[in-house]
Amino acid sequence: MDAPAPSWQRLYADEEFSWIWPPAYEPNSNPRELEQILSLLRAQKGARVLDLACGLGWLTIPMALRGIQVTGYDLSAAMLAGAQESAGQADAHIEWVRGDMRSLPENWTETFDFVTLTLSEFGCFQDEADNQQVLAEVARVLKSGGRFLLDIVVNRDELILNGDRHDCLDGGEFFISDRGSLDILSGIYTRVFRWDQQGRRHETTWQIRAYTPPEVKRMLDQAGFQESAGYRNYAGDSLTRDSAGMVFLAQK
Ligand SMILES: C[S@@+](CC[C@H](N)C(=O)[O-])C[C@H]1O[C@@H](n2cnc3c(N)ncnc32)[C@H](O)[C@@H]1O
Repeated sequence: MDAPAPSWQRLYADEEFSWIWPPAYEPNSNPRELEQILSLLRAQKGARVLDLACGLGWLTIPMALRGIQVTGYDLSAAMLAGAQESAGQADAHIEWVRGDMRSLPENWTETFDFVTLTLSEFGCFQDEADNQQVLAEVARVLKSGGRFLLDIVVNRDELILNGDRHDCLDGGEFFISDRGSLDILSGIYTRVFRWDQQGRRHETTWQIRAYTPPEVKRMLDQAGFQESAGYRNYAGDSLTRDSAGMVFLAQK
């Protein structure tokens, strides 16, 4: 718990970088994926859902508007403020709580029917015990039989299959270089973003421990989940070694 803040946490606090990523997480982006998540979960009106690391409320707000009782939990005050503002505009009623996903409130034991962790950087903690601790906390706050939707943005099998990469995004007013490489021994995947803005060169680094599907399955088992299924995407397509991300649905 006392490890230095991993680089991705600095990334979220980086005012200069923040202009690049928010559009992807805005409440009205990706409506098709939103519908797919809702049908995968099959959460009924009145169900209690914890949207962990809820960000700007991309999933939190639509769930609340469908009569689900949602709690949005995030470490970033800025993300929560943005989410709260959007929820106010949409007239969505949500409980917002700020905190670290490695230690959820004590009094939440066996409270939720569902927990969601979408677009997640599961594996972001340098200490593997912290990644496992996130799963243990999710299992603790779920009711017996409750379900956990875990969406992870990388899959080590795919990173090995496709090798290092270099993408460039030319947005007209800006140009971003995004270089990704996997350290084969540690399993740490690093992305270095470089961009020019108003004549200045910027650089920032994002890191994650990339797990394989069986590793995630084993960690879910260890946290006490009875069953878990892995998919390629929210549509429920089969998870394969070339799936860029992984979606798990686990039952306590
Ligand atoms: C990539 S965003 C995903 C947001 C949202 N789930 C979505 O699908 O749009 C990751 C979020 O995780 C939050 N976060 C990062 N570390 C956290 C931690 N230790 N505990 C709780 N939230 C955290 C960040 O503040 C950020 O809002």
